[in-house]
Amino acid sequence: MLARMSVQGFGVDIGGSGIKGAVVDLSTGALAAQRFKLPTPQPSSPPAVASTVAQVVAHFGWQGPLGCAFPAVVRQGVARTAANIDPQWVGTNVQDVIGAATGLAVKAVNDADAAGVAEATWGAARGVRGLVVVVTLGTGIGTALLYDGVLVPNSELGHIELDGEDAERKASAAVREREGLSWEKWAKRLQRYFSALEFLLRPELIVVGGGVSRRADKFLPLLTLDTKIVPAQLQNEAGIVGAAYLASQSPPA
Ligand code: BGC
Repeated sequence: MLARMSVQGFGVDIGGSGIKGAVVDLSTGALAAQRFKLPTPQPSSPPAVASTVAQVVAHFGWQGPLGCAFPAVVRQGVARTAANIDPQWVGTNVQDVIGAATGLAVKAVNDADAAGVAEATWGAARGVRGLVVVVTLGTGIGTALLYDGVLVPNSELGHIELDGEDAERKASAAVREREGLSWEKWAKRLQRYFSALEFLLRPELIVVGGGVSRRADKFLPLLTLDTKIVPAQLQNEAGIVGAAYLASQSPPA
């Protein structure tokens, strides 16, 4: 029993529409039990989000390091941007605020970086040498850069300019839903986005995550790239899994 518990971790993924968490089996990267999700409070201010995270954690009675995948640049625990979360977060120490609400030691990382680490450890980017770009298509567009499996954090390539606009405002999964785009129309925008990434970075592999990666067969075959592009294997759980893993690796003091 003890041996089993020692390989478990806990991750929470804070997204634009939902805050979801789960106990993670860190020997396999799989969820140990079904995840629990609550809607992201609106406005998504620090106290409101922290109290929702505490409810998610309490649902499982989790005690131990808590990994938080956060939808912004996070440097040394502090949020530095807020494209899809309340602007009050900018300059806020995510680890302190969520740590105070949960009573746990918190490790906060960018959500796409968390997903990237999970994919490199257990998923579609496992064992790939050279540069891998993991792109999460959700409310926004998140990116993780991994070189020989090592994360280069906070890449923020969802905000490159595409046809004079912020790419995530043209090509995120939320934009597809909001504008009612067909898979073909959305794929045209994704084509321009991924061609730009390919031109800038020349990666070995692109991994596409986010909830919509479940339907990758609808849009990945419509793209023409020199770079191999594959769906994420951990799909929308990668943020939870990666955050749990990172928290277990370096629990803050
Ligand atoms: C944020 C990124 C985040 C991505 C996905 C973007 O708007 O700038 O930090 O990874 O959304 O949530």
